Amino acid sequence: MGKTWAVAVLLIALAFFAAEAKLKSKPKVCNKGWECSGSIYCCNETITDYFQVYQFENLFSKRNSPVAHAVGFWDYQSFILAASFFEPLGFGTTGTKLTKMREIAAFLGHVGSKTNCGYGVATGGPLAWGLCYNHEMSPSQDYCAENYLYPCVPGAEYYGRGALPVYWNYNYGLIGDAIKVDLLNHPEYLEQNATLAFQAAMWRWMTPMKKKQPSAHDVFVGNWKPTKNDTLSKRLPGFGLTMNILYGDLICGQGFIDPMNNIISHYQYYLDLMGVGRGNSGDNLDCSEQVVFNPSYKADTTS
Ligand SMILES: *[C@@H]1O[C@H](CO)[C@@H](O)[C@H](O)[C@H]1NC(C)=O
Ligand SMILES: *[C@@H]1O[C@H](CO)[C@@H](O)[C@H](O)[C@H]1NC(C)=O
Ligand SMILES: *[C@@H]1O[C@H](CO)[C@@H](O)[C@H](O)[C@H]1NC(C)=O
Repeated sequence: MGKTWAVAVLLIALAFFAAEAKLKSKPKVCNKGWECSGSIYCCNETITDYFQVYQFENLFSKRNSPVAHAVGFWDYQSFILAASFFEPLGFGTTGTKLTKMREIAAFLGHVGSKTNCGYGVATGGPLAWGLCYNHEMSPSQDYCAENYLYPCVPGAEYYGRGALPVYWNYNYGLIGDAIKVDLLNHPEYLEQNATLAFQAAMWRWMTPMKKKQPSAHDVFVGNWKPTKNDTLSKRLPGFGLTMNILYGDLICGQGFIDPMNNIISHYQYYLDLMGVGRGNSGDNLDCSEQVVFNPSYKADTTS
């Protein structure tokens, strides 16, 4: 009897130390319910802790006005539900509270400039009109290219849709695979479901365009260090490089052109409205002199 006990106690003790050692070697992960779980990124504030519905309403104050083109479509709930897929990966949950708020302003700055219908004399100013569209209004082409993996489906149309508009059959196919929705057969989902529209945009933000390249998220939150070649190409961490990654030479390396200035203006307008202030825009705000990662003759391919 005594011996059995001793063995049992020893085993329990061993199990205990093993568990203890395992806890110490692994970083702590946290669960914050549906919004963020099973990741170290869920341990600090999550997006709903610092970005509330009234702030979303301030940023996109004109989106439901009668002349807007996606009235009733975009809302805070869809944004947060979409974000819950990416917060465990660090979206809006990396670094200090300032870094987190800046990342949301940066991501939404891109979204706002791509979906806005404001013009110089619009009420509230041209920057108040983000999320005015959820799809391209007058497609100039059919955006169907021969592709082995993601061939065009008869009847489906691949014009621009979403929060960071998706164009072309192969991009719908690729993003659909990534977010596990059949967008190749149903590209229209991106103009029917705001959560999916935001999810597709967040995936783009979080994912490198090509292997061995950083994502927009990486260069913005400090997960990436420039090589000597990057430095010579003026590619340094900051908001400017997110434009380089997402749009290449359509926006970057061309001096202070209007389309680039417009994206920056949205970012800074949102920083102000969120209470962060444009003084905290960060270094390397523009990409006027950057050499692009992917020249445009290649920028549209999926490989
Ligand atoms: C959590 O917050 C601290 C202090 O703001 C920050 O230094 C740390 O990087 C954050 N953790 C993660 C996983 O981003
Ligand atoms: C929209 O997409 C989300 C997330 O993928 C899903 O949970 C939701 O049910 C969809 N909404 C509708 C109305 O289909
Ligand atoms: C350095 O940059 C140039 C121009 O962007 C590029 O052609 C070259 O391949 C790069 N070299 C390395 C080692 O990455």
